[in-house]
Amino acid sequence: MNRFNGQTAIVTGAARGIGRAIAERLASEGATVALADINEAGVQAAADEIGGASFAVATDIAEPESVTALHSAVIDKTGQLDVLVNAAAIVPFVPWDDLTFEEWRRVMRVNLDGIYLMCRAASDLMRPRKYGRIVNIASNSIFDGTPNMAHYVASKGGVLTFSRSLATELGGDKITVNSVCPGLTDTEGVQESPHKDAFEFVDMLQAIKGTGTPADIVPAVAFLASEEAHWITGQALAVDAGMIRH
Ligand SMILES: NC(=O)c1ccc[n+]([C@@H]2O[C@H](COP(=O)([O-])OP(=O)(O)OC[C@H]3O[C@@H](n4cnc5c(N)ncnc54)[C@H](O)[C@@H]3O)[C@@H](O)[C@H]2O)c1
Repeated sequence: MNRFNGQTAIVTGAARGIGRAIAERLASEGATVALADINEAGVQAAADEIGGASFAVATDIAEPESVTALHSAVIDKTGQLDVLVNAAAIVPFVPWDDLTFEEWRRVMRVNLDGIYLMCRAASDLMRPRKYGRIVNIASNSIFDGTPNMAHYVASKGGVLTFSRSLATELGGDKITVNSVCPGLTDTEGVQESPHKDAFEFVDMLQAIKGTGTPADIVPAVAFLASEEAHWITGQALAVDAGMIRH
């Protein structure tokens, strides 16, 4: 399929994990992808490996100037923005007793402020063209609550409800906004944290057994980012082997 021929996409968190896999798929289907990540070396390496017209932009999604510079770079290079996928986030493991206000703010700053800044800048570019696809990566942890991540769960719940509201705001300009809620997925980030010990427990709750990988999340994101998903907006799609069924 070449669903993104002639289109430009921004994917945040594209240095590794789910964001990188999404960037690779959109590029393989014809998009020029701006890979954005705070990890400068990592995102450059990812863009080099993906090749083609795709390019890296070192970006802190929580810094307004950095987000403005990213969008300027995209317009300078391609003149348009069709797709935004927000995958960048901090995925913490902090028990409630250790959850300080400083740690709370650290996560909110990236996971929620960052989504606002990215959607603000991207939608301003999309609206005059009356076309746009925004896919925000939330998490299935928000539906039942997950221990050791109260601030993360709060931030991702915000991502879902913000996406619903933004869908209403932008529908008139034919811009769709949806969220995808992955289940536990085997990424570098998870492997570096105590979350890696939860795969067995999660497997027990899944309708389909096995360990989720970024490749399992990508197809849902690519579909919602495509032109043919024009009649779907304000939705949250759990992509978690049927762990959450409501
Ligand atoms: N892996 C999972 O089990 C899982 C489950 C549910 C939801 N998610 C969500 O999927 C997305 C990707 O998860 P992952 O496991 O691939 O994460 P990861 O930690 O492997 O990658 C996250 C990327 O975001 C980047 N990033 C962090 N802060 C940033 C900032 N301020 N500006 C720009 N980039 C920044 C990091 O450098 C990193 O490359 C996240 O939104 C996460 O919350 C993941």
